[in-house]
Amino acid sequence: MKNADKLDALAKEIMSGNDKGHYTIPTKGLYPYQWNWDSAFAAIGFAGISMDRAWIELETLMAAQWSDGMVPHIIFHTVDDSYFPGPDVWGGVGPVPSSGVTQPPVAATMARQLYLKDPQFSRDRADALFDGLLKWHRWFMDWRLDKGAVCVTHPWEAGRDNAPDWDGPMARIDPQGVGEYTRRDTAHVDSAMRPTKFDYDRYIWLVNMGNRLKWNQQALLKENPFRVADPTMTFILLRAQRDLLALGQDLGKDVGSIEADIRILEAGCQSLWNDATSAYDSRDAHTGEWANSISNASFLCWYAGIDKSEMRKAYDRIMKSCQFGVPSLDPDSDRFDARRYWRGPVWGIMNMMIAMGMQEHNMPQADELKNSTAGLISEHGFAEYFNPLDGAPAGGKSFTWTAAIWLAWASPNASKT
Ligand code: GLC
Repeated sequence: MKNADKLDALAKEIMSGNDKGHYTIPTKGLYPYQWNWDSAFAAIGFAGISMDRAWIELETLMAAQWSDGMVPHIIFHTVDDSYFPGPDVWGGVGPVPSSGVTQPPVAATMARQLYLKDPQFSRDRADALFDGLLKWHRWFMDWRLDKGAVCVTHPWEAGRDNAPDWDGPMARIDPQGVGEYTRRDTAHVDSAMRPTKFDYDRYIWLVNMGNRLKWNQQALLKENPFRVADPTMTFILLRAQRDLLALGQDLGKDVGSIEADIRILEAGCQSLWNDATSAYDSRDAHTGEWANSISNASFLCWYAGIDKSEMRKAYDRIMKSCQFGVPSLDPDSDRFDARRYWRGPVWGIMNMMIAMGMQEHNMPQADELKNSTAGLISEHGFAEYFNPLDGAPAGGKSFTWTAAIWLAWASPNASKT
């Protein structure tokens, strides 16, 4: 591996280059705003640089919380024409201009990581965020459950924009009236690495529908044809609830409702078990149909505190079939595409969460995954994602979350920071 100290310095440089003072952009050009789960990862990246800056990242995110509890997936602190769809298309109804959907709630887990790293410094900051995090988690429990599993109402909510998990439900949408629009993403990145026009038409159609309904969850529940119970949201919320419970207990908060929510979500995880693939899978909440997709989100089970021997077998099989894991889709699937975003490539943040879970289950695969991710980044840079077959970097460059997970986890110096 190249010099770890040099890579640490480079990672810090990337984070400070993307730092806007009170929030961080994922990368220049392609993503010029604040993204929800990106910020939670940025926070733990900042933790080794400045604990104060780390908390500010989460505080800015939570300040964008809507009155119903939702925390939006994009926060438009400025107007920037290099990104589409912008604030006018979304019509978010929160305290600051934002999108109208959420993203996986990793924030409570990362807040707890900050707290554990420096409880004395963090106590008041964690205390101030606790109620907002609880309210956000409650919003999921109130509006998004199907058999106890958490549903997404737009593919962007899962953070796995074009995963094959959404193919069936997306194909049922007729994107009538979506009209003309100009994509900006393909001006920054090779279109072979991005979602297709078929997907984009439907992404925009769903945004227009939400805007028209003023993002009212009751109305969306009735009208939205896209509602998919998914392992990303379900495993991540379950983990976040466990972390919020532990944090709340340390802070002397009333945590009464969280334990009951954990039981509901545990049952929800089991409702995502697909016997046909012997793995955790996404399920269309409207039709009950399975996606039949073994993805990197399926392997977040350990992160959620759930172990299954079948998942261990599937993991070992998949990791043998590519040079770098964890691929976002099983390479044996006929929908696997090594370069296209969430249909094959490796994502560092997913690797970190998968490894956190494996570590907690004493699985030797945890260290292997950490080392292979470190090797991938040291050889191929701080890219947005990577080709699992040859490690080639893909998507945006100088990416905040890749730098953040390097500093907080993958770097050989990580535990020392
Ligand atoms: C893409 C990713 C999403 C991420 C965003 C900003 O949309 O799919 O997970 O949050 O970019 O990095």
